[in-house]
Amino acid sequence: MAENINAEELARNARLRQEIEAQIIRRFAAEDEVLSQTLAAQHEAGLPEIQISPIQGRLLQVLVAANNTRKVLEIGALGGYSGTWLARALPADGKLITLEISPKHAETVRAAFARAGLADRTEVRVGAASELLPTLQSEAPFDFFFIDADKKGYPLYLDWALKLARPGSIIVADNNVRYGKPFQEPPPDEDNAGIAAYNQRAATDPRLRSILLPVDEDGMDGFAISVVLP
Ligand code: DHB
Ligand code: MG
Repeated sequence: MAENINAEELARNARLRQEIEAQIIRRFAAEDEVLSQTLAAQHEAGLPEIQISPIQGRLLQVLVAANNTRKVLEIGALGGYSGTWLARALPADGKLITLEISPKHAETVRAAFARAGLADRTEVRVGAASELLPTLQSEAPFDFFFIDADKKGYPLYLDWALKLARPGSIIVADNNVRYGKPFQEPPPDEDNAGIAAYNQRAATDPRLRSILLPVDEDGMDGFAISVVLP
């Protein structure tokens, strides 16, 4: 019966983990009406429900506060949920530029920012990130980068983040744990290969100090967080 006892203990631990997460969200990362509306609008627009979690949103805000961020560059806007967390952490003279490949999604994002009262400190630019990134050099440096777009493009986006950064800039990428698939050798597909290459760079590039933080999906997914060294 040892196996049954073990199964009960596992179920108890799983419930406890859920309760702990709910308490952290309630005390530190509660979603307000505006964020709930952003998710509802994203659903209405038929966008996939793959946004970051409230705890991830709050972690982005903590990191934005940590290095005196004024300019944020987000790669991959989805429905504007992560952009809302990010823009809310900015000072009044701060600015979030978010890149979105789909014109239709970009409209959803602009509407979300307007509803959130963030139209004045946000800008949605439409196009492929690979084409938009080279046009941003005159607006660099950015203090903070959030990469949450097509996974195949992650190594290129890290290259550009480094070009557009300053010493002390923070670079965060979502989905870099991804149920362990990027650790398989070889990775199972080109998306996971992109993440694996990103993680390898983040771990070894002498310009970066980085960590992978399993902070979503019950520890199965999470952020790569890097600081650009002086
Ligand atoms: C996928 C993409 C994401 O950015 C995410 O957070 C979860 C899933 C996806 O493409 O499946
Ligand atoms: Mg993501």
